[in-house]
Amino acid sequence: MSTVLVTGGAGYIGSHAVKALRAAGHAVVVYDDLSAGHRAAVRGVPLVEGDVRETARLEAALRRHRVSAVMHFAGLLSVEESVRDPARYYDHNVGGGLSVLDAMRAAGVGRLVLSSSCAVYGNPVATPIDEDHPTEPINAYGSSKLAVERALRDYGRAYGLQSIALRYFNAAGADPDGDLGEDHDPEIHLIPRALDAARGGAPLRVFGDDYPTPDGTCRRDYVHVSDIAGAHVRALDAPAPGRVRVYNLGTGTPHSVREVIRSVERVTGRRVPVEAAPRRAGDPPVLFAAAGRIERDLDWRPAHTALDDIVATAWRWHERHPEGFGPTTP
Ligand code: UFG
Repeated sequence: MSTVLVTGGAGYIGSHAVKALRAAGHAVVVYDDLSAGHRAAVRGVPLVEGDVRETARLEAALRRHRVSAVMHFAGLLSVEESVRDPARYYDHNVGGGLSVLDAMRAAGVGRLVLSSSCAVYGNPVATPIDEDHPTEPINAYGSSKLAVERALRDYGRAYGLQSIALRYFNAAGADPDGDLGEDHDPEIHLIPRALDAARGGAPLRVFGDDYPTPDGTCRRDYVHVSDIAGAHVRALDAPAPGRVRVYNLGTGTPHSVREVIRSVERVTGRRVPVEAAPRRAGDPPVLFAAAGRIERDLDWRPAHTALDDIVATAWRWHERHPEGFGPTTP
């Protein structure tokens, strides 16, 4: 049995990955500073509290727990904030990513699965987007993910690191068992915000209705968080000696903001009050995946493909946990 260290394992996608790893028989240790993650999301596995930029602490955790592979999720995730404050994104995401790589090298851990993003592609020149699409990020979030992917390539060549970068489209939904879900503070993502509006929270602000899309709102590829978690487990077992492999994770079907709102209304049986708002900086009009490469190579395909199904899992979590996991600090 191998032990996998999961950075950001107390966060949204990381906690779902921990659950999938345990179900597949792996031992897991979570490394998280709980700045955005939740202690209550870490269940039945050790938690090492620390920032990924603390290389020595991370290296010690790798040695102490005899870790054989790392999944790296910890990082900042707001596209809009990354446009306003790129320095933070380079510091946390690039600095953090390099620190993880250096701790792994020092501790002799040679296998990594990286949480990357479709934001590395920028404004698509062709859709669906496959992995050979040019990478021209239009925000610092995407640039920071791409920088770490490039480091993986160089570390692979020079030091033999085996790594896989998974470029997710829009992670959405919640653990179908109801144990885990999305709880960001502040919440920036469309589906939880729309669910909150349906429950009587603030009206949903629709960021831009004049995009060159059929209904004027942005289209995205929403992929279920448990499917993303499952892809990480498969990636862990796929050998890639001395090089980085890159895979898209998406369903291949885009949905507009208005389609998501209608789905939330169907699933909840409630109206979603909306307000028109200006475009949000750094938002490409359309992003959806050609995800054939991971299907061919790793036999991965999403189990949740219907938007209503994805939204229904998020709604279940939202209804049962209106306060999320509770306070982020212990
Ligand atoms: N949106 C709204 N109102 C809101 C929130 C979002 O209209 O209150 C719109 C956004 O403008 C966007 C769409 O809904 O068009 C989806 O927005 P999200 O914030 O849910 O997701 P993003 O597409 O911005 O972000 C996701 C991931 C990022 C990743 C990015 C790639 O969360 O990590 O995709 O573009 F970088």
